Amino acid sequence: MKGGGALVIVGLQWGDEGKGKVSYLLSRRASYVVRYQGGANAGHTVVVGQRRMKFHMLPAGSAAGAAPCIAAGCVIDVRRVLEELELLKQLGHGDRLYISHAANVVLEEHKALDAHMEEARGSPIGTTRQGIGPAYADRALRAGIRVEDLTDSKLLDSKLRLITKLHGCERLTSSEELAQTAGSLAKYVADIPVLLNDAIRNGEHIVLEGAQGTLLDIDHGTYPYVTSSNTVAGAACASCGLSPRFIESVVGVAKAYATRVGSGPFPTEELGGEGQLLREAGGEYGTTTGRPRRVGWLDLPLLRYACMLNGVEWIALTKLDVLASVEKIKVCVAYVVDDGEISIASPHMLARGSVKPVYEEFSSWNKLSTEEARHIAAKGWDELPTTMREYVESIEKMLGIPIRLASIGEETGLEVWR
Ligand code: IMO
Ligand code: MG
Repeated sequence: MKGGGALVIVGLQWGDEGKGKVSYLLSRRASYVVRYQGGANAGHTVVVGQRRMKFHMLPAGSAAGAAPCIAAGCVIDVRRVLEELELLKQLGHGDRLYISHAANVVLEEHKALDAHMEEARGSPIGTTRQGIGPAYADRALRAGIRVEDLTDSKLLDSKLRLITKLHGCERLTSSEELAQTAGSLAKYVADIPVLLNDAIRNGEHIVLEGAQGTLLDIDHGTYPYVTSSNTVAGAACASCGLSPRFIESVVGVAKAYATRVGSGPFPTEELGGEGQLLREAGGEYGTTTGRPRRVGWLDLPLLRYACMLNGVEWIALTKLDVLASVEKIKVCVAYVVDDGEISIASPHMLARGSVKPVYEEFSSWNKLSTEEARHIAAKGWDELPTTMREYVESIEKMLGIPIRLASIGEETGLEVWR
């Protein structure tokens, strides 16, 4: 029997790259799809026909029928998990969920602390205020409430006391109520490492769905303007309890331009009218918070670094259709720094000094109607507008990594494989 394996999907920018759609497409033949880090700060959208589905806690790939898993490295918003489980039931995928006993639970206290920290900072991060940082902090302090604790209201009470004492914060959670709501999660608790390792041994395939993006990684991103987890592909193994030997492939998802929500360096940010055009055409407003996203041009020095960190095998380039809203497309191909030009840059250096992007310009294409996009998707690569093909091929050449999937519309089906 041929062995199975795992494929990691990882965002290569500051999140919102279109990981939801890519995960849906790649999960169609997977037995399991796993969220391995982050929490309800994620917002992964899948559009199938008229139906628009948003996932914050469950992996978006579960809409394609793969069984959803939440691994140890996640911080869990119990209410969201239950809501999204209902959504999957409505889709006809049954009542399936595998949740790690070791995942930590986000409390109302964590959300309040998140807001409090933002207000206390001189320069706020612009977090999603979902309690992510404080929940991960309690996990590192070994004060966190884990999924395995949820059925024991006595234990919960003593842990809640510790948390409020540690942070000097007001108690917002009743242990009885938490035990009651969360009690319904008990039947989904599973040994994720055993589940996934068994599946691989049986020749099955697994998708590991990253959240946020590489440039928001707590170690490798633009610290402190990052999220509180490791978002790089390597984090998937630790969270799932899978050996790196079982990772078959790493797929990087990049948007054809760039966006960022919240504060922090963004060298290719476009503050003028073209930025506004892209924001409107691309619906660049946060899935989780509704905030307008900052918009700019594709940044190859950072993208090269992100591909290196993750060992990306191939790229899914998304939202190409949106670039029809501008006449000329800019791509940052290098940075000018003190001692010359560089073509690959670590996010870390952005925080320390200013860099000047060197741009190359590309011609845009006409806006495609949904009908035209459907026709192109059915016919394949050669039917794409010439200038769009040139754009994708140039990026591929400059990165030296194949772009195997080009998305030309939000709906699943509006994409071209190569
Ligand atoms: P998906 O999975 C985009 C950003 C926030 C903020 C920083 C820290 O949909 O791509 P946090 O709430 O995590 O402490 O906020 O990270 N951020 C995201 N930006 N997409 C996301 O997720 C994000 N999750 C967090 O805006 O700048
Ligand atoms: Mg999002």
